[in-house]
Amino acid sequence: MGTSLLSASRELVARIAGDVGTPVYIYDASAIRERYCELTRALASIPHHVFYSVKANSNLAILDLLRSLGAGADIVSGGELARALRAGFEPEQIIFSGVGKTPAELDSALRAGVGVVNVESFAELRALRAIADEQGVVARFGIRVNPDVTTNTHPYTQTGGRGMKFGVPMDEVMGIAQWALRQSALEQHSIGMHIGSQILESGEYREGADKLARIVDEIRAAGVHTLRNVDVGGGLGIRYTTERPLDPVAFAEAIQPLARSTDLPLVVEPGRYLVGNAGLLVTRCLYRKRMGGREFAVVDAGMSDLLRPSLYRAEHEIQLVCDGDPTGVVKSDGADDGPVDVVGPICETGDFLGVRRDLPGVRPGSLLAVLAAGAYAFTMSSTYNSRPRAAEVLVDGDRWAVIRQRESVERLMWGERTLDEVDVEGWRTVSRERGG
Ligand code: LLP
Repeated sequence: MGTSLLSASRELVARIAGDVGTPVYIYDASAIRERYCELTRALASIPHHVFYSVKANSNLAILDLLRSLGAGADIVSGGELARALRAGFEPEQIIFSGVGKTPAELDSALRAGVGVVNVESFAELRALRAIADEQGVVARFGIRVNPDVTTNTHPYTQTGGRGMKFGVPMDEVMGIAQWALRQSALEQHSIGMHIGSQILESGEYREGADKLARIVDEIRAAGVHTLRNVDVGGGLGIRYTTERPLDPVAFAEAIQPLARSTDLPLVVEPGRYLVGNAGLLVTRCLYRKRMGGREFAVVDAGMSDLLRPSLYRAEHEIQLVCDGDPTGVVKSDGADDGPVDVVGPICETGDFLGVRRDLPGVRPGSLLAVLAAGAYAFTMSSTYNSRPRAAEVLVDGDRWAVIRQRESVERLMWGERTLDEVDVEGWRTVSRERGG
């Protein structure tokens, strides 16, 4: 939960917040290494490749770290492609996923030579073929199947159920695979699924894996002999508050039969599992107030820094790092002020980080740490209310470094123009002709 960092050194967290300012995301490199090792240990008896899902935390230093541990990169946009290449991933170690890749993104992925493009519709595969034809290359592709498995997760993080926008319906996979066999610019290297995120039950993977095994049999019988792997996606759930996280050994047991029956290595695409618990969002309390019988701690981080509570009603544990004295570690002053709502400065009622939390002693100046903020925190941040994005820091053993500077207000206005400036640059004329 990022707790290891916090329990090892509240002083360090307070010092970083003092030096860099708040809000600040702090990531722990050793926690990421540990998670990576834990997963690869659990999967040791299964031929497999880990492709880190970049969307969880796409900071270059984090990508670099995961690459150095041996992970490939699972990307979903041209922006993530650029990041992965900049962080040093070999193009073949990149999987391009995503439901709506643009022609330009497909073009740059093929030019870069990414390992595989996972398509999510027949239309997308046809677009890929046209671009491969144009470039005179053979595109290695995978088909993301929608296995019709509903996960017991927040509806917004379910992706494998019928009627969702993701993947190819099972009854269309065969037709697409057979069509691709006749295209010289295409070669099918993979088939896979990604059924959802923050999954806590291994049975859901087993169900999807069983279906994939059957589909692999069918497409092989139809003449597809180029498969190099089966992709079981990401989604491994972690602990935020009281959840029992998915045991990677149970995950391994659920997917092992798929590797055995297909005799193919498995690809796994974890994001949150590797980085989620390795990060904190550290914020300072600005004000206390009482309204309508509720107690509020107004802090300097909000939904623009951590959207998950507002978007999914996600609960992140919040701990007091230290009281108003930046050099002092938590000093309980005996104030028993009952549960508080930890709310941000943004002009939205939905701007909260935690509701009715027991945080005795929190007062203006106190530092708070929001736990499990290593995944889908910075990457889902925004600049709403023109609040520059917070800095990111990496702690590695006895050293730490800023891995993303706090954004400047100047930067927020990049590319914008006042009307006077538009007058100088020139307006374009609206054509009055029909269809113009
Ligand atoms: N592979 C694919 C194709 C994905 O779409 C995703 C996540 C992953 C792998 C990695 O999933 P993970 O292991 O991190 O669960 N914003 C949400 C999570 C959205 C996940 C989207 N796809 C949240 O904050 O909970």
